[in-house]
Amino acid sequence: MAAVKARLASGNPHKLEELRAALPGWAIELLETDRGYPPEAGADYYENARGKAAFGRHSADPDEWVLGEDSGIEAAALGGAPGTASARWADDGVARLLEELEGVAERGARYVCELVALGPDGEERRGTGILEGAIGLERRGDEGFGYDPVFVPLGEQRTVAELGNDWKRANSHRTRAAAALRAALS
Ligand code: IMP
Repeated sequence: MAAVKARLASGNPHKLEELRAALPGWAIELLETDRGYPPEAGADYYENARGKAAFGRHSADPDEWVLGEDSGIEAAALGGAPGTASARWADDGVARLLEELEGVAERGARYVCELVALGPDGEERRGTGILEGAIGLERRGDEGFGYDPVFVPLGEQRTVAELGNDWKRANSHRTRAAAALRAALS
């Protein structure tokens, strides 16, 4: 069967790599745009992901699918912050997270990912993925990106940055969202 051609409306190569692994049979490239992405103005991950996909729809070839992805980390002790603001919460989000949770016993957190696919005929499918875990006391590991050096998944002792990119490809919130998307498409 021919591969499903798709564009990911993102500039993040880590996201691309995880989604390529999670969507076998899809030929995904980053959307190339010199227009810059619109601000993430949505009320939630879904609206942001859909906004990115809709933006990409205008630049992608008519026969391509467009994938919009929005994700973030939510700390229970911070009432779910930074959430959808994860990317712009601080210059160094990890430093701020460690600072805000200093001396706080409740370390529970989760990663959330919303994935929206818009098809050539305007059809829309979505998938949500969640990875539960906790925020460690210090940075550990050097793989992944963003908050991975302080995020310890439930049932693990090591951070995602220590567990590594292979672990992420199999278990991340993005991988889970992609599995839900595949189910929605089948
Ligand atoms: P956005 O979806 O591009 O707005 O950004 C999501 C932000 O959430 C990233 O910049 C990271 O700060 C955080 N984030 C999302 N997924 C991950 C992940 O897999 N590892 C680490 N941080 C992540």
